[in-house]
Amino acid sequence: MKTRGMNGSKSLSVAAACSAALLIAACNNTAQAPKAKGPPVAPAISINALMVAQVDHSAHVLWNVEQKGQAPKNDADWREVEHHAIQLASSGTVVALGGTGKLDAEWAANPGWTKRAQELTDSALAALAAVHAKNFDDLVKANGRLVDACQGCHHDFKPALPTEGIMHPH
Ligand code: HEC
Repeated sequence: MKTRGMNGSKSLSVAAACSAALLIAACNNTAQAPKAKGPPVAPAISINALMVAQVDHSAHVLWNVEQKGQAPKNDADWREVEHHAIQLASSGTVVALGGTGKLDAEWAANPGWTKRAQELTDSALAALAAVHAKNFDDLVKANGRLVDACQGCHHDFKPALPTEGIMHPH
């Protein structure tokens, strides 16, 4: 978790965006309960933990349908895929908010991060639509889009870290 491959100017602008976000957070803390306002509220866990326990976990359930003999055969099978597509769709929203990891707030303040997180949600929603239509071909297409969403963000934000467990044969 040392090198992130960010160049200096990028880090600077990230830092600027981050301190702006901190200021806003600080303002909200002093104001008594800004009721009508939604987040900023960061999840109580790190993005890394969410990646492993939820994002990777549910993505593999989707990708596994492409393994020999693993295509959904009945309503229960489709429901299982559906639940994991929903988990993934909401994961995109959650990772956009940041978390308790060292760099999480910095990432969440970066518009590029928000865009990548949205791609995660969008590809999961495409998978969900395919599940609702019980359309296996569309599910496979959405699965491919999902790989792109994972890799796109990892390319931008964790290029120096391994992507073990992400690559799946199609
Ligand atoms: C919005 C950006 C983003 C998206 C989208 C994303 N990841 Fe990640 N992921 C990260 C970052 C950043 C880390 C490293 C976090 C850290 O080290 O604190 C990470 C870490 C992980 C890890 C932990 C182990 C490792 O390789 O470092 C796994 C597993 C993982 N991601 C899987 C996935 C999968 C599978 C998908 C797609 C279904 C995905 N991620 C989508 C940003 C993203």
